[in-house]
Amino acid sequence: MPDTGIAKILIPEEEIQTIVKGLGEKITRHYRKIGGELLVVGLLKGSFIFMADLVRSIEYPLTVDFLSVSSYNDTTTSSGEVKVMMDIGGLIEGKNVLLVEDIVDTGYTFQKVIRLLKGRNPLSLMTCTLLSKPSRREVDVHIDFCGRDIPDEFVCGYGLDYANKYRNLKYIGVLDAGGS
Ligand code: IMP
Ligand code: MG
Repeated sequence: MPDTGIAKILIPEEEIQTIVKGLGEKITRHYRKIGGELLVVGLLKGSFIFMADLVRSIEYPLTVDFLSVSSYNDTTTSSGEVKVMMDIGGLIEGKNVLLVEDIVDTGYTFQKVIRLLKGRNPLSLMTCTLLSKPSRREVDVHIDFCGRDIPDEFVCGYGLDYANKYRNLKYIGVLDAGGS
């Protein structure tokens, strides 16, 4: 039974773990091949749980940092405007950066952050997202590692929120359109 406010479970806990493990293996293979220093940058707040599991599934030495941007204002539609609220702590020049997002929707957030980080001369920049809604895309963004494509439904849980709620759900569920 899904929790109150959740219409249905889209991705159960065990399936999330399978997806994350698969991503970790691909990422490990890539960085073992290219070598060099790896910095994994998570976009807050949505990616915090995914990041915790993802970095533990990557078998390659790495450091972690976080970036916070605002996109949605407690609603389920994007304004297209993205503002940096908290920047990463150090320089990324000469490092392989892996940018990690919870979900790519219109693509504005990812596009803005990719541009910001590319402008700081990393050795390489790769992108990873747990979820993607391709049918909602308004700007073209390149995703190197994508966990799963989902249909155009608003999802919550495993770090993803609606009005900052539901982040602690172990599964990813579809928000009940009638409730909150
Ligand atoms: P974009 O800029 O439209 O690609 O939006 C990306 C951001 O919106 C993500 O970082 C999420 O925080 C949020 N977002 C987009 N779709 C969903 C969803 O279905 N559930 C929860 N958050 C979402
Ligand atoms: Mg969010």
